Amino acid sequence: QSRIYRAGVLGHRPDVPVEPEALEAAAHRRMSRTAWAYVAGSAGRQRTAQANVDAFDRHRLVPRVLVDVEERDTSVELFGRRIPAPLLFAPVGVLETVHREADVAAARAARTLGLPFVVSSQGSVPMERTAAELGGSPHWFQLYWSKDDDVVDSFVERAVATGAEAVVVTLDTHVLGWRTRDLDLGYLPFARGLGIAQYTSDPAFRRLVERRAATPRSGGPAPRPTPAAVRALVSIARHHPGRLRDNLRSPLPRAAVETFLDVFSRSTLTWDDLARLRSRTSLPIVLKGVQDPRDAALALDHGVDGLVVSNHGGRQVDGAVASLDALPGVVERVDGRVPVLVDSGVRGGADVVKALALGARAVLVGRPWVYGLALAGADGARAVMEHVWAELDLTMALCGVRSIDEIGPGLLA
Ligand code: FNR
Repeated sequence: QSRIYRAGVLGHRPDVPVEPEALEAAAHRRMSRTAWAYVAGSAGRQRTAQANVDAFDRHRLVPRVLVDVEERDTSVELFGRRIPAPLLFAPVGVLETVHREADVAAARAARTLGLPFVVSSQGSVPMERTAAELGGSPHWFQLYWSKDDDVVDSFVERAVATGAEAVVVTLDTHVLGWRTRDLDLGYLPFARGLGIAQYTSDPAFRRLVERRAATPRSGGPAPRPTPAAVRALVSIARHHPGRLRDNLRSPLPRAAVETFLDVFSRSTLTWDDLARLRSRTSLPIVLKGVQDPRDAALALDHGVDGLVVSNHGGRQVDGAVASLDALPGVVERVDGRVPVLVDSGVRGGADVVKALALGARAVLVGRPWVYGLALAGADGARAVMEHVWAELDLTMALCGVRSIDEIGPGLLA
């Protein structure tokens, strides 16, 4: 943080706004209407998204004084690996709507900082390419559990081969939430073939597509496109000319998109299915999207290695409990047996301290770094995470805390 301050004293402006609201506003101005709706938008009337942020305001820190905090250490251990700060890049799909370099730029940002990157199942770039950009920097793979077992197995196999250090199974998206802003724009990115690069690059998935493409269509000619579909196409043409060209040139994408929509996620998934994943990989299995302590208990019964308390940034259940409010109950039930992480609503370093004080081992950050990416590519995403990290470090210093272990409930009013 001293580098950031010194640069400021010398009159250098940061790459992206430091103030979270200004960052968001700048990204709003820069992004296309559809990209903004997709990234900033949440489910329904956006109430849980708002509640996520508000929940942090209801907790207050009580700083201690006259502690020697000259030497500070923000590092923390997760699954046997020491990471420099309890901050992860949350898995975010469809980044091609935000920046041309998408996941590759985000991965470069994570690598520069040494913070773990969670590669999304909905990535815009095949995971192998993202992993190459990450080099040896830590990364986890986030799985949407496909309806097709072969696709699940293949994704996990590929993730292991890329050096992923954990598999994060996202459990809150077995059906897509009621995304009002996307719906109003006639924009469901997946239906437009965006964010499906993990699938189209996957051998098991390609076999499914080929099978479908070989099956003659029944039921006469394809239906006429709706006005909303035409608007979406125009938007893709404007923002992703390459993508449109690809779609028009090859007969496969339509079958690929349809196949994707068929197999994207399995709503019949239950606890027993986790055994299959366990039999396929020895990597730590982390469940993302847990909010109820009873589910935390079931997760422990099923030998899960970690949890992420999350409501997907309010994008799934409008009216779901704020993520930070769900955290203490889960932490209490888990009682230190596995690490509990949290996301949804983290906007700065002081938020991170509060989450850790309530028992989280680390936090995932979502939209803020995506806004940085929209504004300044890899440099922007890096700058945003650096700002969160710097504020975390300063807040620790100002609260009389020298290491992450020293952050506990005693720091809260
Ligand atoms: C997400 N999130 C998400 N989660 C996941 O497991 N797989 C994914 O592909 C995505 N994709 C995605 C796209 C976009 C545009 C957003 C904003 C979010 C959810 C993400 O990992 C995280 O849970 C939330 O973003 C956290 O909330 P905040 O930090 O955005 O408030």
